[in-house]
Amino acid sequence: MKFEFQNPTHLVFGAGTLSKLGEVVSSYGKKALLVTGSGSVKRNGTFERAISSLKAAGVSVAECSGVEPNPRLSTVERGAAIARKEGCDVVVALGGGSAMDAAKVMAAALFYDGELWNMMAGQENRKLPSQALPVVTVPTLAATGSEMNSGAVITNEKTAIKSFVTAKCLYPKTAIVDPELTASVPPDQTAYGICDLITHVTESYFNGVDGTPLQDRFAEGVILTAMEWGPRAVADGNDIEARSQVQWASVAALNGWVQVGTASPFPVHMIEHTLSAHHDIPHGAGLAVVNPAWMRFASRIRPERFATFASRIFGIPMQNPEDARAAAEGIDRFEAFLRSIGCPTRLSETGIGEKLLERYATDTLLVARDSEGRLPGRPPMSKEDIADVLRSAL
Ligand SMILES: [Fe+2]
Repeated sequence: MKFEFQNPTHLVFGAGTLSKLGEVVSSYGKKALLVTGSGSVKRNGTFERAISSLKAAGVSVAECSGVEPNPRLSTVERGAAIARKEGCDVVVALGGGSAMDAAKVMAAALFYDGELWNMMAGQENRKLPSQALPVVTVPTLAATGSEMNSGAVITNEKTAIKSFVTAKCLYPKTAIVDPELTASVPPDQTAYGICDLITHVTESYFNGVDGTPLQDRFAEGVILTAMEWGPRAVADGNDIEARSQVQWASVAALNGWVQVGTASPFPVHMIEHTLSAHHDIPHGAGLAVVNPAWMRFASRIRPERFATFASRIFGIPMQNPEDARAAAEGIDRFEAFLRSIGCPTRLSETGIGEKLLERYATDTLLVARDSEGRLPGRPPMSKEDIADVLRSAL
């Protein structure tokens, strides 16, 4: 494999680092667009602390609050209009993945010609953004890894299509990752974040090219760390050591280190995005349903990979390298772990029935498809395959 890799985001990690926000942001600009989610940062005092730090450093603030989970195109347009009107020269995202993703696209919107949706995957005449305001991310949830990568996922609410963009200009300049900010995240959202971060590495573990032993070990390290410390963070939100380990795992899971050289598609994410676009379910909860079902489907074609997973993650003995029984047991154990921390693992638990299974499959293929019209992955999936996997998770 040949590859090039650069992650230019400056990472500031550790409990209490929110106090550095003003100093960091003032090196990029004097007027910040502060992007926040549904209001938890205001209720728990994080917002006030952020504002004080910014003001003390001479940074004034224009606010874009109320970014919803599964952020919408109209919200991105609203934020970009505020940034334009207020003359913002830097964008600060204070929130979870939705606030960070929306903030990145708002930052690029100021320089983008034409319809914003044209930058998203699946568009016929797609044009990637090439310039953006500097972005500083301050995650309040350990999950998406968006704080230190160049990706953003946005929902077009008019068409119920959820798509993604990755572009060099979307890398945040700095990520301030303060695990104390995640202490008030409730157990269910904490668990969904753990599932999300694990799924970021299982995608490349199972769908990447062969012959990436170091990347395999990176992925296994992320999974084992999340499985060791995640339950502690779910059980006691104020366990800052557990919060720190989980959050570091979430950063490392999707800042590029694990995936570099694997050329991996993300089929489980693509399928889940369609579910959350239609039903507004939490991304991590949707992944907890789709990932084990997808694993059972893919393990029939490549049992050896799933037997290795079973052996290395759960210590399940392999009778031979293609031990289908070990592979199946590993997937069962993984699903049981997700359940043990409070994730749903059936569609019915998320309120989704069988009515629109074909539609989800069709919509997923609108965003990602190979030259034969299949969802890229190992194996590539036809429309029927996608519907079958979802049916098996009902
Ligand atoms: Fe994700």
